[in-house]
Amino acid sequence: MAESCDLAVIVPTFNEEENIAAMIGAVDAVFRENGIRGEVLVVDDDSKDRTIPIVREIAARQENVRLIVRKEDHGLSQSVVEGFRSARSDILLVIDADFSHPPKLIPRFYEAIRGGADIAIGSRYMEGGDIEKWPLARRIVSLGATAFGRLLFPEVTDPVSGFFAVRREVVDGAPLAPRGYKILMEVLGRGRWDSFTEIPFVFRDREEGESKLRAGTVIDYLRQCAGIVRFSITHRAGPVSDEWTKVLRFGLVGLSGILVNMGLLYALTEIAGLYYLVSAVIAIELSIVSNFVFNDVWTFRSARDLRFERNLRRFWSFQTVSMAGLAVNMGVLYLLVDVAGVYYLAANLAGIFIAFAWNYTANRHYTWRGA
Ligand code: GDD
Ligand code: MN
Repeated sequence: MAESCDLAVIVPTFNEEENIAAMIGAVDAVFRENGIRGEVLVVDDDSKDRTIPIVREIAARQENVRLIVRKEDHGLSQSVVEGFRSARSDILLVIDADFSHPPKLIPRFYEAIRGGADIAIGSRYMEGGDIEKWPLARRIVSLGATAFGRLLFPEVTDPVSGFFAVRREVVDGAPLAPRGYKILMEVLGRGRWDSFTEIPFVFRDREEGESKLRAGTVIDYLRQCAGIVRFSITHRAGPVSDEWTKVLRFGLVGLSGILVNMGLLYALTEIAGLYYLVSAVIAIELSIVSNFVFNDVWTFRSARDLRFERNLRRFWSFQTVSMAGLAVNMGVLYLLVDVAGVYYLAANLAGIFIAFAWNYTANRHYTWRGA
């Protein structure tokens, strides 16, 4: 193995003759301007245009530029993983060849990893990020993919970004199963990491050449998500599994709340002799309190801040979300029964399910944000 360097910039390519020379030049200029000892690693899938001779020629002149030409198992993610393996650095960055990702931001990714983050993600969907010149259809597909990805990684605003950097240990020896386009999802789902940071950037659509994204990419993506979920269930580790553990606990706490509610309704009505509607109001409120306590000390214990006013803030937030959840449940019940003519017990099940999704999401992101 040759001398190691500070940063390896991996550029996957397939038919990029219009862009690749300029891209290598831009990355190399960033290295020089910022005093980074970096290498550019072009991982090509046996392009049919002039990409290979162009890069070969540059690599012959410049020792920090290398080319890998792959002949088998064609694919963007596979190419990136091959780049990870062959890179001569402990910090790895992935960037598209078509200038959709601004090379000028490379030092920020590099510094983020050096500063302690395991993964640095270029995000189009956080404050300061944006997408330029994308047709509406493409935006919608991308938003759908992103929303889906966020179910797995709720803290990450752009889990399908193609612009990111990782510390080598995150991917070294990790059981990555690269397929399709979304290599970052795979790294997040199966890599070994604790912390990440996001860096906003403006995605510019390519000026030269065309996107290689096809319908099959969407299928690949869904299969990949399923694979990550399966992995996290069987391995019981990693962020996806942590998230589903919370969902499960939140559900169990909800069930315990039903028991509390029923028990109190019975006791207050039969033993204390209260009018049943009065008992019901008290029972509902006390079950909200007990749900809050269990979720606070069990489900979301990682997000607790024990200062009194913070406890109070969380409680009011939970109370408000629960009341809204009750309204959601009733609203769905009414709409399904009176408007859609659904059998009321089936409609109630749907109401409970939707209210649960609302309660979980709102509490996860607001009441116990940072959990
Ligand atoms: N080695 C290799 N093999 N490289 C490929 C392949 C392949 O099969 N397909 C595409 N590439 C290279 C392209 O040459 C380019 O450098 C980069 O991967 C991105 O390909 P594009 O075809 O330009 O992708 P895109 O612009 O549609 O998608 C981008 O945005 C997505 C987010 O919406 C990429 O950054 C995706 O990774 C990202 O998920
Ligand atoms: Mn592109």
